[in-house]
Amino acid sequence: MANPQRTQVGIVGAGPAGLVLSHLLYLYGIDSIVVENRSRQYVEDRVRAGVLEQGTVDLLTEMGVGERMKTEGLIHYGIELRFGGRGHRIDFKDLTGGKGIMIYAQHEVLKDLNNARAATGGQVYFEVEDVSVHGFDGCRPTIRYKKDGNSHEISCDFIAGCDGFHGICRPSIPSGVLTEYVREYPFGWLGILAEARPSSEELIYTYHDRGFALLSMRTPRISRLYLQCKPDEDIALWEDERIWQELHTRLTSDGWKLTEGEILQKGVTGMRSFVVEPMQYGRLFLAGDSAHIVPPTGAKGLNLAVADVRVLARGFKEFYATGRRDLLDSYSEIALRRVWKVQRFSWWMTSMLHRFPDENPFDRRRQLAELDYVTGSRAAAKTLAENYVGLKLPGRHL
Ligand code: APR
Ligand code: PHB
Repeated sequence: MANPQRTQVGIVGAGPAGLVLSHLLYLYGIDSIVVENRSRQYVEDRVRAGVLEQGTVDLLTEMGVGERMKTEGLIHYGIELRFGGRGHRIDFKDLTGGKGIMIYAQHEVLKDLNNARAATGGQVYFEVEDVSVHGFDGCRPTIRYKKDGNSHEISCDFIAGCDGFHGICRPSIPSGVLTEYVREYPFGWLGILAEARPSSEELIYTYHDRGFALLSMRTPRISRLYLQCKPDEDIALWEDERIWQELHTRLTSDGWKLTEGEILQKGVTGMRSFVVEPMQYGRLFLAGDSAHIVPPTGAKGLNLAVADVRVLARGFKEFYATGRRDLLDSYSEIALRRVWKVQRFSWWMTSMLHRFPDENPFDRRRQLAELDYVTGSRAAAKTLAENYVGLKLPGRHL
């Protein structure tokens, strides 16, 4: 092996989970090396979600990577649920004692984290190949990878698998150890990024006969909109004109007008709920999408990844400070408690707001009654609000 490297925590994947973990460990005085198979440019240009819970905003701020988020992000204190052609606001500020959300794109968060890692001498290796993990069931885990045709090996005390759903870490755990829980949804989302002034101050979640629709945004000039479609919808069949027509139809509401603009990017994503248990095996710890996937209706993917590594980083901090493994040994248990609550909320939002192809007319009436109840009962609206702004995170942020 060319120049063996040594670190305390080896991290696979430079998405939100990997980069937040690496910078948290730096703030705790713990070394880490991140290996990522994509280029920095690719990771920083990849359009993903953009809703940050209060807890995520507070953690990024305390980590010292919140400056640009504070100046360029949009703080929202509510969302609108729209059905039967009428809108109903869910007032987060009133229902959660002042909490809100921040609209700030995931790839902007990654840019801020990469800048912070670079500014503090962080070791993040992009464009590596053939990453593999070894020895994590023993006491000398290693990560092997190729870079510019040369083979490299990192020996470490622990490995954090932050390599997403299609990564190599989860499949590296011996078969029979993990239990998978999966729910596939019989629909997908057709999403667009458009150079259009957002037609609403806040996000609009719409239940419509023709299917779900969501109006979101990125900046005062860029809108992000989604339409429920078939899971294998062919985007080639959707000219821009047809997309706008469908959005007008589903989002319609008295006296409200949708502003169109040039579509910059469009794509279709499938929807599933997925969890593996446990989220650790030996000295390999899974965090973020490598351990769980939520349907995007609750805007939780990024926030759940950050919540995982917050607990994991604490476990490493305790281990290197005291040699105790209590927190590390209970990482999976602690993280999964939150994962399942967030899975429940994301499934609930998805089930309440989408048309199911094989639906029974009874369910349709029940969905409308649920929307009527959630927008008419303070208790029910409070439940939605406290889940949307983010369930309380155990303990202090840093
Ligand atoms: N080797 C190295 N890096 C890898 C490998 C591999 N074999 N496989 C995947 N990666 C990288 C991906 O390129 C990606 O940059 O791991 C990273 C995983 O990042 P994410 O998929 O963003 O997952 P995570 O950090 O858990 O964040 C979850 O991201 O995808 C959104 O909606 C999702 O919001 C959620 C959040
Ligand atoms: C987004 O802005 O991309 C977004 C917002 C809310 C969601 C999902 C995605 O529930």
